[in-house]
Amino acid sequence: MQPMRNKKNKLTRVLKFPDGFLWGSATSAYQVEGGITQNDWVQSKMPASGLACDHFHRFEEDFKLAKKLGQNAHRLSLEWSRIEPVSGVFDEAALDHYEHVLDFLKEKGFTTFVTLHHFTNPIWFAKEGGWVSRKSVDYFVRFTEKVVGALGELIDFWITVNEPNIYANLSYLRGIWPPFRQSSYESYQVYRHMLSAHNKAYGLIHGNYPEAQVGFAQNISFNQAFDDTNFLDKLLVRFADWTNIDYPMTRSKTDFVGLNYYSRNLRKFGSFPRHRTVRAGQLALTDKGWEIYPKGLYEVLLKLKKFSKPIYILENGIADARDRKRAKFITDHLRTVYRAIKRGADVKGYFYWSLLDNYEWPVLPAEKTGYEMKFGLLEVDFMGDLKRKIRKSARAYAKICKNNGLVI
Ligand code: FCB
Repeated sequence: MQPMRNKKNKLTRVLKFPDGFLWGSATSAYQVEGGITQNDWVQSKMPASGLACDHFHRFEEDFKLAKKLGQNAHRLSLEWSRIEPVSGVFDEAALDHYEHVLDFLKEKGFTTFVTLHHFTNPIWFAKEGGWVSRKSVDYFVRFTEKVVGALGELIDFWITVNEPNIYANLSYLRGIWPPFRQSSYESYQVYRHMLSAHNKAYGLIHGNYPEAQVGFAQNISFNQAFDDTNFLDKLLVRFADWTNIDYPMTRSKTDFVGLNYYSRNLRKFGSFPRHRTVRAGQLALTDKGWEIYPKGLYEVLLKLKKFSKPIYILENGIADARDRKRAKFITDHLRTVYRAIKRGADVKGYFYWSLLDNYEWPVLPAEKTGYEMKFGLLEVDFMGDLKRKIRKSARAYAKICKNNGLVI
């Protein structure tokens, strides 16, 4: 790599990413669209997302901004409760809407990544027992079949389910998300059913579109023993890696590994993970309280190498209302991605979470509205007219996207 001189005559280098690398940002329907009324989150005690970013009506403006910011791929999700508000009854107008959305993205030259399930469920589905019930798999397959028929041509990458590990954990084990269950048995059933639904959807999509790229998005933290000399802490790390990486990957068919990476988890036997176990003030944290730990992304990517598949980083981002840390967060993480690629990890794309400030699944009681956490490249004026403003860090990310690499 040849050093170059920048405008100030300073020597710079570009850490080039592989040709064809995909640069994008991600959203999910319930978090940005607004106007969703038929899912289990709306019906629950959680604060509702309401009008959210009104992305449902403003998607063109949002995608134009993403394009201007140098992005060439976009990840979004379809809201199942819009498409199938009543069991077995599909809303053609909802499908038309998503057709327009995807058409628009294609027209603008984006590669499309579409998530079929991003945490929310239609009310009827929840009433039928949700993901604990064995019927969930057939229901999900029926929904997938409809989407394949109506929108398949416009979808390049399919993400069947988002973070089945997090969903099973927070909704069925810790019980802090709908349906607020606390049962290890149910949590395991839910995880199993989601992976089995993924496998069936995989076959179905490939039956119609042999060239389609199908996978799921998994939230994988870098697990580390709180105390390196403690046998039980180390055992916990092995168990966490097996649950989040080996178990789901070895029992599912995928064309790629979809990774959502946010942080490191220090595992201490007998207590909940993460930095809670570390003395306050010792770690760099995001507004959400998650530790900023770029090196962990490198470590996770090297762990994923063994599956010999392309890897897409489908989410990586920071809650940072004042936009003080975001640009550095992105750059530091991408430097570790660059290093992992040099070490043989086949990373082919990176999606920042999120394009917009949006509804962030609140942790009660601290987060009262769901709009406290600001993950967006674009700031959204939720107190006023929902106007979008490009953050400084968005311009820093744009520079990376446009250079297909990091200028250092
Ligand atoms: C991930 C979710 C995504 C977003 C980020 C911050 O776990 O997939 O919807 O909320 O966390």
